[in-house]
Order: sequence, then C-alpha cells, then structure tokens
Amino acid sequence: MSDEAPDPVVLRAVPSTNVFRSDIFAGKVLLCSGGGSGICKGMVATMMKHGCNAAIIGRKADRLNAASKELEKEAGNGTKCIATPGDVRKIEDMNESVKKTIAEFGRIDFVICGAAGNFLASLESLSSNAFKTIQEIDLLGTYNLFKASLDEVKKSHGAYVHVTATLHHTGIPWQSPASAAKAAIETLSQSIAVEMGPWGVRSNCIAPGIIKGTEGADRLTPKGAEDYVASQIPLQRQGDLHDIANATVFLFSEAASYINGTVVIVDGAARNFPGPF
Ligand code: HXC
Repeated sequence: MSDEAPDPVVLRAVPSTNVFRSDIFAGKVLLCSGGGSGICKGMVATMMKHGCNAAIIGRKADRLNAASKELEKEAGNGTKCIATPGDVRKIEDMNESVKKTIAEFGRIDFVICGAAGNFLASLESLSSNAFKTIQEIDLLGTYNLFKASLDEVKKSHGAYVHVTATLHHTGIPWQSPASAAKAAIETLSQSIAVEMGPWGVRSNCIAPGIIKGTEGADRLTPKGAEDYVASQIPLQRQGDLHDIANATVFLFSEAASYINGTVVIVDGAARNFPGPF
C-alpha cells in the first residue's frame, strides 16, 4: 500500500432521479416534521419528485405555507404538498397534523421525524431550560410524531426515517444537548423497529454530516472555513442535500424492505477523521 498522498478525487452528488425511477412513490403520502426548511425540505422535495404527496410540519405557519408552494412548484409533476403548522413538543399539534393529512390524502405511508433545534453553547454556559428545550424538540418531538402517526403507518405498512447526527459518536464540544438527543433518538428508532416490525413497519435513522447550504451548517461552520472543513473530510467535500435525499429515497423504497432498526450515516466518513468536525 502506498503512503503517498493521493491527488484528491471528489465524488460529486447526483440527483436521485439519475438513479431511481420517477414514479416509485406514486400514490404514497409522506408526513415530515421540519419539512419547511433545510435538510428535511430537501428530503420532501425529492420524495415528491418520485410521485409522493406530502404534508410538512413546522412552527411558523407563513414560512411553512410558502415552503409547501415552493415544493409543489419544484416537483412540477402534479404532486401536492400541504402545510400543517404545529409544534412537535405538543402531542395535540401532531394529532392535528395527522388528521389534516388524512383529510387531504386519506393515508400516510412515510414519516420523517426531522424537526430539530441546535446551537453552540458550552456545557458550563448552558441553562437547564436550554438543555431541556432541545430534548423536547428533538427527542420528545420525534416520539410525539411517531405516536400520532402510528395507527396510519400500521395500516399502510409504512416506514419511519428519523434525522439524527454523528455528534454523539465522539462527543463534539458545545453541542451537548443535540448530541444527547440524537443518541436517544437512535435508540428510540431501534425500539420502534423491534416492536413494530411484526406489523410491517420499519424504522431507520439517517445521520447526516454537515450539509452545505442549510441553517444547521451555517450555524456550525465558521464563516470562511468552508474549504478547510471540506479538506478535513475524507471524501473532500461537504455533504449536499442530494446525498441525504438519495438515502431517504432508498430507505423508503422497497429495495430497503429488509432494512430495519439501523442508522445510515451520510457524512463522507467525516466522523472517522481526526479533524475538528
Ligand atoms: C444558549 C440558548 C440559545 C443559544 C436558546 N437558548 N438559544 N442558550 N445559546 N444560542 C436557550 C434560551 O436562553 C432558553 O433558556 C432556552 O434555550 C429556550 O429558548 P427559547 O428561544 O425560548 O426556545 P424556542 O423558541 O423554543 O427555540 C429554541 C431553539 C431555537 C429551537 C434552540 O432558538 C433555534 O435555535 N432554532 C434553530 C433551529 C435549527 O437550527 N435547526 C437545525 C438544527 S441542525 P433560558 O434558560 O434562557 O430560559 C441539527 C443538526 C445537528 O440539529 C448536527 C449537525 C452536524
């Protein structure tokens, strides 16, 4: 084996439509928390491009309504997206989102639990309420959406994808609330996988690395350090929304019908590299 440094080769992200059939989710329905922005909006956009109708959940009704229109326009294939505003911390809001989705589409096949809060703060500076807030949005919010949607997902023998992270693999400074919450979501997903598997319901997680152009990346990547961050990742680039969307399409597709209770890490092996990210 050579110990010379290679000339970097960058494997580009490709849209899911280059790989998967455009009608694989025709007639199916996705419900997604956090779908109004960032990584989750990209996941919804891609599911719609493959024929799925969608309902998105977020706290800010105006932003959510605008996002649902943008998503329909971007899909451009007649699929629909409705906004169901709500706070994932409130089970009654999640019940209402499920009710509206059923009233509009009559079924729910896929659920993405993606609503998350995060900020950089040291353990010492963090207040108890700040820590609790992130557990409630990320972990309790995931449970609430699971709980509210379960009867419908059982009927359709559908699947869950929970958006986690790799923070908890090593412990990353200043992100203890999100790190703890994401670790807990991965164990919750395993419980769902084993308890609901006999009903034909699957549950998996996608753990993204830093995905460029998202609010999360903007908050967590120091300005001007994007090239340096990319150079610290073995695959020599930050993640792209297509990377997460492709994993989502695969996990919800029948090609993944025996994949249950696992975590698909989509980070270019950034977690294995001794850099700062
Ligand atoms: C320290 C903070 C803080 C900050 C809020 N708090 N922001 N503490 N540093 N930057 C504290 C507040 O002081 C308060 O505690 C408590 O948290 C609750 O704050 P509120 O603003 O009242 O809560 P709320 O309106 O519910 O919203 C909180 C929030 C939001 C969800 C954290 O402010 C936020 O940051 N939203 C961003 C969402 C986001 O970026 N999502 C993408 C996540 S990316 P006190 O004690 O004062 O009452 C992601 C991926 C992770 O999750 C992995 C990446 C690699």
